[in-house]
Amino acid sequence: MREKGKTIQAGVIGWPVEHSLSPRLHGYWLKKHGIDGTYVPMAVTPDGFENFLANLCDQGITGVNITVPHKEAALKAVTVVDEKARRIGSVNTIRVEETGELHGSNTDGFGFMENLKEGAPEWTPDLGPVTVLGAGGAARAIVVALMDAGVQELRLVNRTKERARKLAGDTGGPIVVTDWDKRNEALGDTALLVNTTTLGMTGKETLNLDLSSLPPMAVVTDIVYAPLITPLLKQAKELGHLVVDGLGMLLHQARPGFRHWFGVDPKVTDDLRTHVLEGIPK
Ligand code: ATR
Repeated sequence: MREKGKTIQAGVIGWPVEHSLSPRLHGYWLKKHGIDGTYVPMAVTPDGFENFLANLCDQGITGVNITVPHKEAALKAVTVVDEKARRIGSVNTIRVEETGELHGSNTDGFGFMENLKEGAPEWTPDLGPVTVLGAGGAARAIVVALMDAGVQELRLVNRTKERARKLAGDTGGPIVVTDWDKRNEALGDTALLVNTTTLGMTGKETLNLDLSSLPPMAVVTDIVYAPLITPLLKQAKELGHLVVDGLGMLLHQARPGFRHWFGVDPKVTDDLRTHVLEGIPK
């Protein structure tokens, strides 16, 4: 049981975890708000994960974020899962109750939508089809968030078609699964293009995409934030599209956890963006 008046402790569990930007991000907010709290990286192997979670309360920890590769395991290991996390199929934020109960939620979709709202305030779900590239864990959260926002047609394009079919089957909704080889054609009348694949990330292959059939008003966003302006965003910008980079998704997804654990809804500011960007290896 936690003792009153003691430093609030939170952190991020991953394997490996040393590259996580979350301690830098939460550390900034803790300092900014003068909160007596800590937020630390916790390196936990997949084998030790369940046991580690079960002992969080005894260690005096108020909450944790969950990162790769534990997000799906966390869904199974928590006591209570909120509805969104269940539909997404993974947990990225855990609240530890005084009783030891673990409440799991997933804030990735929230982070994505908040970032989009901020970067492209004029985009609305009724403007036309949304094309999402990729069908991994991040895509699941984004697809659920976009459908909940009211998107009427979502084209899901993934190299491994079966994975896209599985995602569409699990989430339901107006999803049209499209072949990876047909990705250029899928862009016609698209109002929002989202890259959730790892293509374009520093050290990975570039995303090979021809944007010529993308309508001029279409917004283009990438969840990759290293580099901040990916080759896709650069290409889209040159063609005159409004682009939204991926850093804001990382920053906004952290807000609900911080608010639960430390009692303040923190702001995403330019100064925070600069601070977190400085933590990304060049
Ligand atoms: P995350 O959980 O961050 O979304 P992930 O589950 O590893 O990460 O998913 C990575 C996404 O990038 C997948 O959609 C993957 O496609 P597959 O499902 O076919 O693996 C996509 N991806 C990675 N490398 C790719 C490549 N060379 N070409 C096309 N898609 C690629």
